[in-house]
Formats: sequence, C-alpha cells, structure tokens
Amino acid sequence: MTTAEAKSLKLGVIGVGVGAAEMLPPMERAPYIDLFAGADVDPDVRRRFQARYEEARVYDSAEALVADPDVEAVWISTPNRFHSPMTVLAANHGKHVVVEKPMALNMREAEEMVEACERNGVKLVAGHTQSFMPHVRLMRQIVASGEMGDLGAVNAIAYTDWVIRPRTADELDPEQGGGLVYRQTPHQIDTIRLIAGGMARSVRGAYGQWMKYRSIPGYYAAFLDFHNGATGVAIHNGYGYFVASELVAWGDANTRYTPSERNEIRKAMAAGTRPEDEEKLSLRIGGEAERRIFRSERGPEKWKPNDLGIVLVSCERGELRQGPDGLYKYTDDGLVELIVDSDPLHRDQELEELYNAVRLGKPVYHSGAWGMATLEVGLAINESTRTGKNIELTRQVPMPAEYDTEYAVEVLEERRIDH
Ligand SMILES: NC(=O)c1ccc[n+]([C@@H]2O[C@H](COP(=O)([O-])OP(=O)(O)OC[C@H]3O[C@@H](n4cnc5c(N)ncnc54)[C@H](O)[C@@H]3O)[C@@H](O)[C@H]2O)c1
Repeated sequence: MTTAEAKSLKLGVIGVGVGAAEMLPPMERAPYIDLFAGADVDPDVRRRFQARYEEARVYDSAEALVADPDVEAVWISTPNRFHSPMTVLAANHGKHVVVEKPMALNMREAEEMVEACERNGVKLVAGHTQSFMPHVRLMRQIVASGEMGDLGAVNAIAYTDWVIRPRTADELDPEQGGGLVYRQTPHQIDTIRLIAGGMARSVRGAYGQWMKYRSIPGYYAAFLDFHNGATGVAIHNGYGYFVASELVAWGDANTRYTPSERNEIRKAMAAGTRPEDEEKLSLRIGGEAERRIFRSERGPEKWKPNDLGIVLVSCERGELRQGPDGLYKYTDDGLVELIVDSDPLHRDQELEELYNAVRLGKPVYHSGAWGMATLEVGLAINESTRTGKNIELTRQVPMPAEYDTEYAVEVLEERRIDH
C-alpha cells in the first residue's frame, strides 16, 4: 500500500443496492477510505444505511449528496441509465467518481462523462470489474514480462446463474442496459483487453435470449482480434443449468443457490409466482441474503469460476489459468502454482486507484477512455448480433506498461507440481 501518510478520502455511495452491498465491506476495511455518505431514493435502504453507519450523512437523492461540500468522491452504483448523468452531475460539483459497470448505455453518454470529468479536473475510474482481481493482473504481468514469449490468445468462459438472480424492472429492459451483454462484458472484455494490452481491432459476436420469461439476453459469445496479433474469446451463459465451477477439481455445482433451488426458481418464474422484489431487497443492505453472500464471516475461500469465468491465456511457450489460490503456470519447465492473496474482501483495487490518483497524483489506469474502449466492444457485440458482421473498433486505448509496476501483484509462494 502506497497510501500510508495522507488522509482518508471522504466517499459517498450513490445507489446503495446489490452492487454497493458487495463493495461496502472493502470500503469499510480500506484505511484510506472514509465511508462518509450514502444516497438512495428508497427510504428503507436509507434507514438501513443509517442504522449500519451511524455517523454517515444520508441523502435522498444524488443531487443532495453531491451538494455536500465535504464529500470528495462518489461511488455511483445506481441503475445503468443513471451512470452517465450522475457522473456528469458529480463532476460538475467537483467530485471524483468511480462508476459501476457498465460505464454507460452508449458511446455518446460515455464521452459526456469523460468530457465532464476533464473539464472539472476530477478523476474518473471505470470501476468494479473483475479485471482488477489479482489473478487477472498477475496474468497480464507475466504476459507483459515476455517470459512466456508472445501472447497468442486469451479465452474466458463463464457458465453462471446470472439470469435467474432477482432482477428489477430496469434490469429486464434492454433499452436501460439490461441483459448479459451490458452487464457482464465489462468483466470478461475488460479482462481480455487488459491481458492482451488493450488494443482490440475488431469483434464478431452474437447474443442469445432463450428463456421465454426473461426479456433480456442471457448468453453471448464474442471473438476479438488485437493489433498485436493475439485473439480473444468471451463466452458467458447465465441460465444456470450447468455452472463452470463444476469443471474445476475443487469446485461444485452450487452457486448462491443449489442446483435444485435453481430449478425451483426457474419453475416459479415460468409460473409467474416468484417473489422477485423481495429477493432483490434481501440482497441489499441489511437483508438476510446480503449478510449471507456479501458479509459472510467464512474468511478467504478458494477461487471458483465466477462471473468472469475460467480464463485461459496461451503464449508462445506456455499457458496460464486460474487456480484455487492463484494461478497455474504451464511452461517447458513444468507446472508451477503461483499463490496470491485473492481474498474477495481485499477487493479494493478501484478504491486504491481512486485514492492514489486524488491524493498522490498518480494516473488512473482504468480511466474513462479505458472504460469507453471496453464499452465499445460490448456495444459492438450487440451490433454484430443484429448485422451478422465483424465490427471494426475505433476507440481502443492501450493499458500503459507502468500499470504493472504500480499495481504489481505479490506472489506469496511458488509451488512446483508433479504433472
Ligand atoms: N460490478 C459488479 O460486480 C456489480 C454487481 C452488481 C451490480 N452492479 C451494478 O450496480 C448497478 C445497480 O445494480 P444493483 O443490482 O445494485 O441494483 P439495485 O436495484 O439493487 O440497486 C440500485 C440502487 O439504486 C437506488 N436508486 C435508484 N434510482 C436512484 C436514484 N435516482 N438516485 C439514488 N438512488 C437510486 C435504488 O433504490 C437501489 O437501492 C448496476 O449498474 C449494476 O451493473 C455491479
């Protein structure tokens, strides 16, 4: 941690829903963050936020929160359609911003965000994607070091229960950024771009929408090629019949639901009897599911394929994949397991990047321009689905090499494995 001496950053959370629930524990734990304020339009959520954070200031709108002169930065985790207007609003009030994925609904909105932050001299982090996770950054660092030769391909395959998690009406509206492409490509595409350097050239993709009682895409597959000759494949199926954690030796068929619970959920959805609003509420602050899923006291757990899925990196002289505690590295010298700290409670990379930029004047690497390039690929998958064509990309940016030294992942141990 490079932030020891300077004072903590006063952060306000706008939209204290499920996405925010996942980030509250890292915010509480980060010594350089002062969880200073929260805003939500739902009075119940506001009450629960105040009950947990007695000293925090609580507001009933984004407008009221950004008008607080003591708030220095905001974490925007409202529904997708608010990401751009609230970023512009916050920037116009001089607040630094971390915006949840997807960054925006379209490129024009994303441009407005970048422009507003630049004009107001505030930092913008395109945040909360799995590409910040240590095993992804370590994959990139190993590739960038050149020790395994040129990069050939990065392939990410996810099979999850994403579609059958409880959803609000806005999440079921593709016009408001609902569906798997908007919501999940920020994890897989950001990761593939990060490992491959960032400069994708074109994409051919297609989404699938196969469940009659869900009005949003629940599947996509995309093929990318990069200017450096590497290729990438991203596949995500969120229908939850089969989940990719069954594929790893230390995994199983459970998600937050057992397989039979998932079957019951699908049947209830088909019958129109699922209490979805109640279930969603239970995942938000103070709910039973929030406690179980986001505030579990179980401690660090083994990595299992999640929303990012299984990531396979192929180089000229070897391959990388995630392991239970870090990475497996396959080379001509054999198989080595690289152990890293991948405790999800240490998921504070966006916060650290924000803090370092604001207090220490360091660059934002997951910048507006970076996030916009990932958004471009997601939007191109939608366009490619409609047109059946390969879509050329024009807004790609590279990830600077300094990122790897600034945010180097520490390998705690190297274990040689007989193989
Ligand atoms: N990065 C991740 O892993 C991750 C995970 C979950 C959600 N998210 C993102 O978080 C965002 C919200 O999704 P969610 O699942 O948390 O939904 P949610 O409905 O649980 O949360 C949204 C919250 O915003 C509040 N809200 C709505 N309109 C508002 C407004 N105008 N002003 C202030 N508050 C308002 C709602 O009352 C609710 O509490 C989405 O953009 C989603 O993509 C990201």
